[in-house]
Amino acid sequence: MSNNLILSIETSCDDTAISILKSSAQGLAILASEVSSQIKLHAKWGGVVPNLAAREHVKNIDHLLDFALREAGVSPEHIDVIAVTQGPGLIPALLVGVSYAKTLSYLWEKPLLGIHHIEGHIYANFISVNPKSQILNSKQIRNTEITNKKESSIVQNSKFKIQNSPSIKFPILCLVVSGGHTQLVLMKDHLQYEIIGQTLDDAVGEAFDKVARILGIGYPGGPVVSAMAEKFQDPNDKCQKEKTRNQNGSYRMQDTKYGIQFPRPMLNKKNYDFSFSGLKTAVLYETKKHPELLKDKKYLTEICHEFQQATVDVLVAKTIKAAEAHQPKTILLAGGVSANKELRAQLGEAIKKNLSEVSYIIPALSLTGDNAAMIAAAAAFRWNKMSDAQRKKSISAWKTMQPHANLKMK
Ligand code: KG4
Ligand code: ZN
Repeated sequence: MSNNLILSIETSCDDTAISILKSSAQGLAILASEVSSQIKLHAKWGGVVPNLAAREHVKNIDHLLDFALREAGVSPEHIDVIAVTQGPGLIPALLVGVSYAKTLSYLWEKPLLGIHHIEGHIYANFISVNPKSQILNSKQIRNTEITNKKESSIVQNSKFKIQNSPSIKFPILCLVVSGGHTQLVLMKDHLQYEIIGQTLDDAVGEAFDKVARILGIGYPGGPVVSAMAEKFQDPNDKCQKEKTRNQNGSYRMQDTKYGIQFPRPMLNKKNYDFSFSGLKTAVLYETKKHPELLKDKKYLTEICHEFQQATVDVLVAKTIKAAEAHQPKTILLAGGVSANKELRAQLGEAIKKNLSEVSYIIPALSLTGDNAAMIAAAAAFRWNKMSDAQRKKSISAWKTMQPHANLKMK
């Protein structure tokens, strides 16, 4: 690799994102990470409208590329590899990113890699973002190391330099929680995925979004439900949470104003699967019993708090159970719902208490939602694993690459 630079594109849902990532002996450094969110546009529909999302991606993507190149202080000839989210996602939205990446790959004569969106979320954990220092470091790197080698030397030149974080050791157990996925993924090595449990119906982020819609409190649901839950006045002492956790791992509060209690679906099942649609329905039934209370802030905060705690209880208990059976050295959290403060904290507490030898890694908050840097991070590891022949082939991948709405992780 001449400059160890990856340009990546992500358009699987409602965020248009382009990033430039530099891989070096110090780790994966973000030179630029541009995200244009369409939240306001979709909010009035209560969810993402695929064709509207695609139209916005088309409008934004050229500007984002300009911003990213300028922010990183590099030009197209400095880029070594182009990576794009190939799936899963909304086809009209994916098509924009994939077509754009194919065009750049053809025009700039650069290798093109298709990346799985969830693989990207997992690899966000490998970007060692220290928000205070990473960008500064990356500026120093780019000032000293960028050269103008021709693309032919890139294919023959082998790997990216990547410094693995010493605290991320295999096997890894990864709890993936996003708007479309809820999975427990076991990784014995880089890019090897075994799904040992997953949701049988709604993903956890989807459940947050649907609950917010039932309560009429906004979109997207995760941030608004968790903000509302935080306002709930805990009648117990919060510090006592661990001590008052039930035997089965759930945490329920007593003596609340409305006495709301939701189920913890699948908590006592032996497998590592999840189900969140019943929990969402329980919220719906609760509000149907008391429609007049939907204007009462205290009622809403209690529902949000209990709903959030029910999801966190199940996610934490299943992850610990899976870890006890599979003995990972590291537990990772990934996906949009990994921004949830309670999930981040309570999973950390449970690991410390039950699996003290296991490292717990969570992505930087800025990398929890959809972004392109995570796609570049996965691409760096993929590139390193490819043979010379595969790398050579990736130069002409623009001829055949297609997006896949249901791409499988392999
Ligand atoms: O990974 P992501 O950005 O997109 C997908 O790949 O689906 O995840 C988006 C999901 C949404 O459902 C959103 O409501 C949820 O992540 N989310 C949260 C929080 N922030 C975002 N859920 C719970 N708590 C949060 N703080
Ligand atoms: Zn995502």
